[in-house]
Amino acid sequence: MEAQRGQWGSKIGFILAGAGAAIGLGNIWRFSYVAGENGGAAFVLTYLIFVIFFGIPLIIAEIAIGRKTQKNPVGAFTSIKNTKFWKFVGYFAVLTNIGILSFYSVIAGWTFGYIFKMLSGDAFGYQSFVSNPYFEIGLFAIFLIFTAGIVYGGVEKGIEKWSKILMPLLILIMIFLIIYANFLEGSSKGLEFYLKPDFSKITPKVILSAIGQAMFSLSLGMGLMITYGSYLSKKENIFVSGTTIALLDTAIAIMAGFIIFPALFSMGGNPQAGPALVFEVLPKLFMGMPGGQIVGAFFFVLLSIAALTSTISMLEVPVAFFVDEKKISRKKIVLYATIFTFFMGLPSALSQGTVEIFTNFGLLPASICSADFLSHMNFIFGDFAVVLGALFASVFVGWVWGIKSATEEISEGSKNFKKIAFLWGFFIKYIIPIVITLILIRLFGVI
Ligand code: ALA
Repeated sequence: MEAQRGQWGSKIGFILAGAGAAIGLGNIWRFSYVAGENGGAAFVLTYLIFVIFFGIPLIIAEIAIGRKTQKNPVGAFTSIKNTKFWKFVGYFAVLTNIGILSFYSVIAGWTFGYIFKMLSGDAFGYQSFVSNPYFEIGLFAIFLIFTAGIVYGGVEKGIEKWSKILMPLLILIMIFLIIYANFLEGSSKGLEFYLKPDFSKITPKVILSAIGQAMFSLSLGMGLMITYGSYLSKKENIFVSGTTIALLDTAIAIMAGFIIFPALFSMGGNPQAGPALVFEVLPKLFMGMPGGQIVGAFFFVLLSIAALTSTISMLEVPVAFFVDEKKISRKKIVLYATIFTFFMGLPSALSQGTVEIFTNFGLLPASICSADFLSHMNFIFGDFAVVLGALFASVFVGWVWGIKSATEEISEGSKNFKKIAFLWGFFIKYIIPIVITLILIRLFGVI
């Protein structure tokens, strides 16, 4: 064990940190608006299928790569297969984290800002809020500084300690909100939208959105679970930990839907509101309830907590890469990576009506994503790159490292895994690469 790299202090610490990485704005902000835009229950069903058949096999595969090699994505791929291509795949994963972190921290900044907006009683004016450059840049910077502060502390002292405190708190607040939302008048229409699938709504676009959302939400295809797996000891059970993380993540997304859709329909809102959904619609709802300022502030505390345990995981990937491969000190690289991410995120922060060129960026067709720079980053890194990354990871494990060797690794600490390894291998080696390739071909057709 390379002590200087740090290691998770306990099994529950790893599960909570992994779940903290996975659970984030993706489960609440992104899941709700993507589900709202893609037909509600039909999307939810498709998403669940991808989580079970793609997400769980892949999370196990990525954690196994990490634990086997005890390295960051670049070191991990190349220590098993030292070619230029797999090195590139590693770099691609590191870059994907920075790309996602850059726009994700902007949304996380809004979330943080909304705590104070709710407390001050001024819960409305989403558009003027997101187009105010001082708020946007300030909140984005504050969120990055929080993130950097925790990652600065290192694996066990920083990430694990915070995840242990923050994750259970998050679940408690959500349970309260579900009960509250489902007692509202008219909430049952929201439940119907969310739970009663209309199968005619499952189109190729819904399928692409569902797989992108499954990968994004589980932090797959970005080398993140490889990095977190690299801090895991051989005696831990990858199968159980990976599956637990995936199920917790999915449970939180499903729970978020049970808050948002009943609440939304009870106030006659539109599920197609897009990325503004959580920020525009829910504050209105909160302000209409007794004590709503406090409940609303709580909700945004929850979202900020969820976002923070994810941003720290995304910053950890480039940090691990530079610490391992370039021998730069953790403290130095946290600083450099944070500054770099800040500049990369500025166009996103200024893309909601502040600066015209970023607001109407329009590089990709409107059928793919909205015209603003942030939506472009969300699509390029949050959908396309992670789905491509998932393809790389499955091909790597299925065809390069090999199902047999990967099974040996997973079976350490998880003796029973061999019984189902055949099924797992079949998905990793054949089903996942074929289906993702077909989806990507289709996507290029659309572009
Ligand atoms: N997996 C993280 C999230 O869902 C990125 O927010």
